[in-house]
Amino acid sequence: MAEISGTAKLPPSGDKHEEASERLWVIFVTATMVLLIAVVVFTSVHYGFHPPSQVETIDSTSLHKGGEFSEANLGTVIAPDGSAVVRVVAQQYAFIPNCLVVPAGKPVTIRLASADVVHGFIVQGTNVNAMVVPGYVTTVRTTFQDPGEHLMPCHEFCGIGHQAMWAHVRVVEASRFPTDADKQKAVSCAS
Ligand code: CUA
Repeated sequence: MAEISGTAKLPPSGDKHEEASERLWVIFVTATMVLLIAVVVFTSVHYGFHPPSQVETIDSTSLHKGGEFSEANLGTVIAPDGSAVVRVVAQQYAFIPNCLVVPAGKPVTIRLASADVVHGFIVQGTNVNAMVVPGYVTTVRTTFQDPGEHLMPCHEFCGIGHQAMWAHVRVVEASRFPTDADKQKAVSCAS
């Protein structure tokens, strides 16, 4: 409180009990902060989290008119070294394609663009988890070790149909992909 009259006095100093209790709180709060930071650092390193570092812009309003995210390019393309690039469009309320097919044990780069609002995607059972913001290309690199099927739901609320927006990722043996360079058509589960 502001002092006006000048007659009020500070509480008697040297109240040992209050000082001790204040010190305990300082220690407790500092320890809590250190613990939380340690948890963030540990989980980031342990699960291989990383912030989206690539800021690559794109015109979200004209994805369908051509370019990298035109319809014929959506899906998986295998490079000569066996690695894969998967291009996906996220829009209300679906991922296109809605089933991604990727090779097991090979580096996979997933590139997503939103055609409308902010979406997110997580590949369950992996550390793949990112937002898809209109105007930017989201790039995630990973390797799926074992063949199998993963759900890939949208995890950013994107409108009334959000809960119905999901895809899946089918991991198959790398040998099942065509390797001849002339067959460079983007594929998804259906093709
Ligand atoms: Cu897209 Cu939620």
